Amino acid sequence: MTDIEQLEASILDDIHAASDEATLESVRVATLGKQGSVSALLKTLGAMNPDDRRTRGAAINALKDRVGLSIADRKGILKASALDARLARETVDVSLPVRPGPLAEGRIHPVSQVIDEITAIFADMGFAVAEGPDIETDHYNFTALNFPPDHPAREMHDTFFLKPKEDGSRLLLRTHTSPVQVRTMEKQRPPIRIIAPGRTYRCDSDATHTPMFHQVEGLVIDETTHFGHLKWVLEEFLKAFFEVDEVKTRFRPSFFPFTEPSMEVDVGCRRSGSEIRIGEGDDWLEILGCGMVHPNVIRAAGLDPDVYQGFAFGMGIDRIAMLKYGMPDLRAFFDADARWLKHYGFRPLDLPSLYGGLTG
Ligand code: DAH
Repeated sequence: MTDIEQLEASILDDIHAASDEATLESVRVATLGKQGSVSALLKTLGAMNPDDRRTRGAAINALKDRVGLSIADRKGILKASALDARLARETVDVSLPVRPGPLAEGRIHPVSQVIDEITAIFADMGFAVAEGPDIETDHYNFTALNFPPDHPAREMHDTFFLKPKEDGSRLLLRTHTSPVQVRTMEKQRPPIRIIAPGRTYRCDSDATHTPMFHQVEGLVIDETTHFGHLKWVLEEFLKAFFEVDEVKTRFRPSFFPFTEPSMEVDVGCRRSGSEIRIGEGDDWLEILGCGMVHPNVIRAAGLDPDVYQGFAFGMGIDRIAMLKYGMPDLRAFFDADARWLKHYGFRPLDLPSLYGGLTG
């Protein structure tokens, strides 16, 4: 075997042994590269006489070409098998059922669902959503809502007070969503049509009361809105919310400092065992407070009560959620128990809307 044949055999062995493109590249550098073995042979031509150079040169250049071709062939094979391996690794079986991901597993809390339902119903009647802070001043929570100083109604609310400030004033956790009425009237010129869902706080805890709970406030202020509008809005809301064609209501005179006249509203219901059907039957269930906004409240918010008038209402969200979805214990709402949420929660993509159906 000539030295050229020997070199060629060992190079071809190396080329075939290369199992990936990086190894093959190092074989190329070690043979055809500047310092490579084939290049080293070519360099020996310079010292030869012309005859030797001609024969030897042709042989070395032929070797160089064959090595180049072999490397190119091997490279094609390695490329193809790398691609095959990758395709095998990344195969997607489109016939496999979709794995349960967060969208299938996660649940919307009934309180959030009911807030979305209430918002959808009132949005359809032209109401916007307003917000206010959970930490309130005495002014917005009581004084501007026509609670006289030291009036017992302030005590009725079992208020959580924060530590007094140096000037003696105390912030508090809002006991109802009614402060949003005042904040909205201060910010916005009538006509005003808003609902304000949110968290409220009272120092109270048993099967039907938790220290944090949810209310939704409603407020309509313009120059002509009267009690008839209030009744219609509430009845339309109750029918839509409980998804019934008719709902019996009873408006009972009541007292709130911020409305005059003030009313509590009961809905007709039928109880059998622990089940309650809303809208029919001879029993009554108290569901919300409402009334015509007191002139003092309109004045405290900077509007002229001789020009502007309207109605307000306030409703416990947790309570109507319990009624609609048959959840017996309010405390479970705030236990953060994933099993409870899986049972009573709602699918995230079933958004409540009047056209799509509130509860899908
Ligand atoms: N803020 C009252 C409460 O928490 C509920 C309420 C009653 C709100 C009558 C109103 C209303 O806007 O007009 O007990």
